[in-house]
Amino acid sequence: MSPKVRHFLRDDDLTPAEQADVLDLAAALKKDRFARRPLDGPRSVAVLFDKPSTRTRVSFAVGIAELGGHALIMDAGSSQLGRGEPISDTARVLERQVSAIVWRTAGQERIEEMAAGTTVPVVNALTDEFHPCQILADLQTVREEFGDLAGRTLAYFGDGANNMAHSYLLGCATAGMNVRIAAPEDLPPDPAVVDRAIAIAAGTGGSVTVTADAEQAAAGADVLATDTWVSMGQEGKDTSRYEPYAVDEALLASAAPGAVVLHCLPAYRGKEIAATVLDGPRSRVWNEAENRLHAQKALLTWLLERST
Ligand code: CP
Ligand code: NVA
Repeated sequence: MSPKVRHFLRDDDLTPAEQADVLDLAAALKKDRFARRPLDGPRSVAVLFDKPSTRTRVSFAVGIAELGGHALIMDAGSSQLGRGEPISDTARVLERQVSAIVWRTAGQERIEEMAAGTTVPVVNALTDEFHPCQILADLQTVREEFGDLAGRTLAYFGDGANNMAHSYLLGCATAGMNVRIAAPEDLPPDPAVVDRAIAIAAGTGGSVTVTADAEQAAAGADVLATDTWVSMGQEGKDTSRYEPYAVDEALLASAAPGAVVLHCLPAYRGKEIAATVLDGPRSRVWNEAENRLHAQKALLTWLLERST
């Protein structure tokens, strides 16, 4: 019988009920950090980076240790993968020794190839297209603030075509939220991702809006979110078109009373977010960064329990 395995390559790899289960477990693990030890042994998890990272690296390393396991952290430059060894060969070697593979890479097709070639769970730790672990942490943060996610409105501002915008579209739609993307008209999210988010929202009671009007997107929103205008690998990009989408005090004033602000970090104060907002009373970015730990521990536990 072929082994059963669950991967987390994009936000819609979890159904609405499954996403809620993972978020419930994340909340429980935040209260009692050592309650679950699915990696006792220790079993190892390979955590591979083709791009830089602070939060993802730390939260997976700490989280895997807290689950009783061992994190084998490798940078592309120090592995044969970085010298062109086929992804499928790497997958076959890793699966015989590790219990899961976490990978930050460029193209989504690369992580899909890894998942197709292995019998252990593969987790997307950021690709050019999606950053689904971050969205789990963000949803945990929004739950902590407001309770239920369904019916809440999250508005994202800036680069509409990046991993965060795409993951907000899928992850928030899955949670039954109203997700608004405000981005320059000529730099919209991938239409296929928008269509998928609309289809998910139709089943969860959420909604999807893509607009070039930042003020309209912010109006009455419960959460304002943004991300760097220059994602990894885009250095030197002209960011002038994003300037009307900066999250500043004026934009925050248009949001709902009690609205909170998210940013996955690293942040560039005075660019995509005003320093007074990032460091101000409505910012929840430090909780958001901490929640990477709890959400990913919950995710790994959940995936491991469903993979044999
Ligand atoms: N938010 C996030 O993924 O941060 P790192 O790039 O530091 O991992
Ligand atoms: N969009 C950003 C997210 C960083 C966590 C990037 O890909 O660089």
